[in-house]
Amino acid sequence: MLAGRHLLEPADLTVEEMEEIFSLAEKIIVDPSAFSEVCHGKILATLFFEPSTRTRLSFESAMLRLGGKTLGFAEASSSSATKGESLADTIRVVSSYTDIIAMRNPKEGAAVLASKYSSVPIINAGDGGHHHPTQTLTDLLTIRAYKGGFSGLTIGVCGDLKFGRTVHSLAKAMSRYPDNKFVLISPKELQIPEYITEQVFKKSGVEFVEEERLENVIGDLDVLYMTRVQKERFFNEQDYIRLKDSYILDKQKMKNAKPSMIVLHPLPRVNEISPEVDDDPRAAYFKQVKYGMFVRMALMAKLTGSI
Ligand code: NCD
Repeated sequence: MLAGRHLLEPADLTVEEMEEIFSLAEKIIVDPSAFSEVCHGKILATLFFEPSTRTRLSFESAMLRLGGKTLGFAEASSSSATKGESLADTIRVVSSYTDIIAMRNPKEGAAVLASKYSSVPIINAGDGGHHHPTQTLTDLLTIRAYKGGFSGLTIGVCGDLKFGRTVHSLAKAMSRYPDNKFVLISPKELQIPEYITEQVFKKSGVEFVEEERLENVIGDLDVLYMTRVQKERFFNEQDYIRLKDSYILDKQKMKNAKPSMIVLHPLPRVNEISPEVDDDPRAAYFKQVKYGMFVRMALMAKLTGSI
C-alpha cells in the first residue's frame, strides 16, 4: 500500500512497489488524458531550499497534469527560513495546507527530519549529496524503456561520484536487481563514498571496478550515466576548477561505444557531454526528462491515494 507513505530514499520502496509505479507510469504515457483528473482537489507543495529547474517544474507539471494544484517556493530566501524558522515548523505548517510535499534541501538528512513532522507524504527531491529517489525512478523507467529491464547490465557512472546524489541513489536501486556490474569512472578525488562500495555493492554481491579514464571502458558499457561536477558542494573553488572538465563525452569517444549503449544524464549538463552527441540515437538524456515527469505523476497518484 503506497498511499500516505514518504519517499526519502530508493530503499523505501520494495522492488514490487517500484514495479507498481513503473507500470502505472507506462499506462499514463500511453493515454495521459485518462489520468487528467485523478488528483483533482489535491495540492502539492514544492519546497525548494536549493535551486532547481527541472525537478521542481517536473513535480509541478506532473501534479497539474493529474488535475491537482501546486504552491511553494523556489529558493530558501523566499521562505520563513530567513526569519529563522525551523524546518520542523515549516513542515508542520505546510502539511496543514497541502496533500503532499516535494522538498529539496542542501542538508543531508533534511527529508528524514521533515517526515517526522509532516502529516502528509514527503518526497525527497534531493538532500545535499545524499539521495534523490525520484531521479532514480526516472533513470530506471528510462533504462526499462530502452533495455527492457534492470538485469544483466554493465552500468558506467562517470564524473562526480563523491557528491553526486543521483549516482548514490542509482547505485542503491540497481544493486537490488541481479547480474548488474558497475564501472565507476572518476578522478581519485571524486570517487564514490565508501559506504556505497562497502554497504551497497559488497553487501548485495554487485561486481564493480574503479577506473579513471572513460576511454578505457566505454566499449564495455550498456548504460553510460554522465554527471556534472557538483560545484556547490566543493569547499574550494580551485579544486572545482581543476576537476570540472575531467570528462567530456564527445563524438570521438562515442565511436568506441556499443551501438546499443545509452547515455543518461540527470541534467543540468555543464561541459561533460558535448552538444555534438545530442543527435546520436544513443543520447537518451532529453527523453529521460519526459520519463521523469510521467514517473512523478505515477508516484504522486499513488502516494496521495488517488489511484
Ligand atoms: C541533479 C540533482 O539535483 O542532484 N539534477 C536533477 O535533479 N535533475 C543532478 C545535478 O544537479 O547535477
